Amino acid sequence: MESEGKMTARLMLAVCTAVIGSLQFGYNTGVINAPQEVIEGFYNATWLERYNEPIPESTLTSLWSLSVAIFSVGGMVGSFSVGLFVNRFGRRNSMLMANVLAFLAAILMGFSKLAVSFEMLIIGRFVVGLYCGLTTGFVPMYVGEVSPTSLRGALGTLHQLGVVVGILIAQIFGLKPIMGNDSLWPFLLGCIFIPAILQCIMLPFCPESPRFLLINRNEEDKAKSVLKKLRGTTDVSSDLQEMKEESRQMMREKKVTILELFRSPLYRQPMFIAIILQLSQQLSGINAVFYYSTMIFQKAQVEQPVYATIGAGIVNTAFTVVSLFVVERAGRRTLHLIGLGGMAVCAILMTIALALLDSVGGMSYLSIVAIFGFVAFFEIGPGPIPWFIVAELFSQGPRPAAIAVAGLSNWTSNFIVGMGFQYVEQLCGAYVFIIFTVLLLIFFVFTYFKVPETKGRTFDEIASEFRQGEGQMVKQAEELNSLGHNADDSQV
Ligand code: GLC
Repeated sequence: MESEGKMTARLMLAVCTAVIGSLQFGYNTGVINAPQEVIEGFYNATWLERYNEPIPESTLTSLWSLSVAIFSVGGMVGSFSVGLFVNRFGRRNSMLMANVLAFLAAILMGFSKLAVSFEMLIIGRFVVGLYCGLTTGFVPMYVGEVSPTSLRGALGTLHQLGVVVGILIAQIFGLKPIMGNDSLWPFLLGCIFIPAILQCIMLPFCPESPRFLLINRNEEDKAKSVLKKLRGTTDVSSDLQEMKEESRQMMREKKVTILELFRSPLYRQPMFIAIILQLSQQLSGINAVFYYSTMIFQKAQVEQPVYATIGAGIVNTAFTVVSLFVVERAGRRTLHLIGLGGMAVCAILMTIALALLDSVGGMSYLSIVAIFGFVAFFEIGPGPIPWFIVAELFSQGPRPAAIAVAGLSNWTSNFIVGMGFQYVEQLCGAYVFIIFTVLLLIFFVFTYFKVPETKGRTFDEIASEFRQGEGQMVKQAEELNSLGHNADDSQV
């Protein structure tokens, strides 16, 4: 076991700089919601100028859906490409390089109005999606690798805190009197170059991941000096010891490709757990709320839907902070279970509110309570935990490939909910949240039986549990086999 980790200025700087990337992810998730009408107006004006006729309704809907959803397509490609960067350039430099994409996207989206081109906006959304896909791999990996074991969950949750603050800022900036209007929307989309500059200035002052230096690069002296700064102590022997153990293990494992993750019985189970946890995050229906909350509140006859949406953003942020403080005490598994269970109850409340809207009074208030509760429970567990637990479930060798696969699963299911929710909602009406309830219950049962607790355990301890589990399974199979043989023998 490693010694108690403490928070140092260096560690804080490293984590805060990294989560600027998370902030960008959240901002770009939330930014497209409020100014929909204004930007659709721009699409129409562009069409009119080019073809001398107003844009057909169906074309506008398709172009808008494309502008929203292409972000997740970029995310899928980006998240799956994480492995191409992190081992070659290192964790920190990969984050630095990715900012090129943020600048490019800022230019494309920020100047689309001036250039009278909605194509630029759509391509810009794809490019910023690429950037965010990479970020959702780089940040949890870097944060997990620089953190001491006892703070890994709390610091890992800062990634999600970055995301939710980003969403909230986007919701507020997107208000009409602020930037969600005709003249300022290009800046609303383009201002992402500001955090990108900030991150580029700060990253060179942050250390490279000591695990990368030692395990991937075999640079022990450098790793040691980085560790001393991060931990604020000269005695880093227990950290080093643990990394060396992991390194020895990795020599035996060699490099792990994505295919091997699925082939090797050693990785199959943690990979399966990692994928299902990503699905539990997205198929919980959270982004049905974050993409469409204004529409949902309108249907529930809430008077000020935009403000109710911002209320959801505030609850979202507040409960991520709650999770931050309890995750090292309560543990990942327990919080994930509480979150999923609570969300299922809120989804049922939401269904009741929507179903009884016309016959019973006060149902629009119930819908607000249900959505706020849904979001709050999400941030207790299913929001933050899946992002950082993948880094915990795998050791250094398979980690990049595992994060790529998990990221792809997350973004793909994000895309499916983003694209599909409106259609399913048209089909099921008030009962749409029942689908999420069923899924949430399935994920609850899965987590209960399959997800191990990772709190307070080193990467190596976690990996060896799966190795042991695997060993036991092999042993059991052998025993069964020999029993079978014995039975055969006795029959003969
Ligand atoms: C998580 C999800 C993201 C969602 C956000 C809401 O980070 O990955 O898709 O929008 O939480 O807070």
